[in-house]
Amino acid sequence: MPDPLIVCNAVEFSYSAPSPLTPDPRVLRGLSLAVHRGEHLAIIGPNGSGKSTLARHLNALLRPQRGTVLVRGIDTRDPAGVSLIRQTVGMVFQHPESQMVATIVEEDVAFGPENLGVPHAELRRRVREALETTGMWEARDRPPHLLSAGQKQRVAIAGVLAMRPECLVLDEATSMLDPRGRAEVAQVVLELRRRGTAVVSITHRMDDAAAADRVIVLDAGAVRSEGTPRRVFADPEALRAVGLDLPPAAALAAGMRRRFPTFPAGLLTVDEVVEAVAASLPARRDR
Ligand SMILES: Nc1ncnc2c1ncn2[C@@H]1O[C@H](COP(=O)(O)OP(=O)(O)OP(=O)(O)O)[C@@H](O)[C@H]1O
Ligand SMILES: [Mg+2]
Repeated sequence: MPDPLIVCNAVEFSYSAPSPLTPDPRVLRGLSLAVHRGEHLAIIGPNGSGKSTLARHLNALLRPQRGTVLVRGIDTRDPAGVSLIRQTVGMVFQHPESQMVATIVEEDVAFGPENLGVPHAELRRRVREALETTGMWEARDRPPHLLSAGQKQRVAIAGVLAMRPECLVLDEATSMLDPRGRAEVAQVVLELRRRGTAVVSITHRMDDAAAADRVIVLDAGAVRSEGTPRRVFADPEALRAVGLDLPPAAALAAGMRRRFPTFPAGLLTVDEVVEAVAASLPARRDR
């Protein structure tokens, strides 16, 4: 297996010094994880478990006080590497407005690569590709502030994609969006996966996490568990212990199984539950 794209090793981080009230202010407490090239990794954890603090370590917005974060082998504490790290790992947050700088969609998306000194023809190519990937090419001449929240978030993602990152980190990027907006962003994530861009989604939505290749559960600044969604969501007690729930479809399936022990185990998605219920019903010949 090739080297992981990002490696966090025993990372510790505090926003403040120890005090009598908070003798141990560490927000990240020896956190270790890897992000592999091209994977879709979901990071879940209760409020305050350190997810956003971790996200900011993945592209050198924050640096570990102990331990290391390596992006393509470059230590995020090396000032000479920061520019390459920021191009490699792009970040989108909950409020896309905070990332918008221009009055026209196309200019907004061009801003990042323009600052990198990308030549004009190449810049146009990248902007077009990024807007097509996110389905926003038709809106290229519009002012971003007139777009829907889902569209704004797709423009913010396009702005990052125009930098040609190898990894996109979405920190609660869909939590303000309605179902359509979420579906639009989910579609973009699928497209990125197809193109081999790694995606790290930090999310409170367990159904979103269920769609990832791998899930990491964060608790009190350390990795509590890790595995495929099917594995992580097979242990509802462990999730409940850190204040998390099953994806709704998985909770329904678990309830069915308690009531009907022959109901299949390990179902995660609405489609899987529908199939299992359909298979257990008597065949109907009238339609
Ligand atoms: N800029 C900051 N200055 C001081 N403390 C902070 C700062 N940002 C976060 N914290 C604290 O660090 C801890 C972890 O916060 P963080 O935002 O990383 O958690 P999170 O898992 O992203 O939470 P949420 O689910 O609410 O987004 C919290 O106790 C928070 O209050
Ligand atoms: Mg957060």
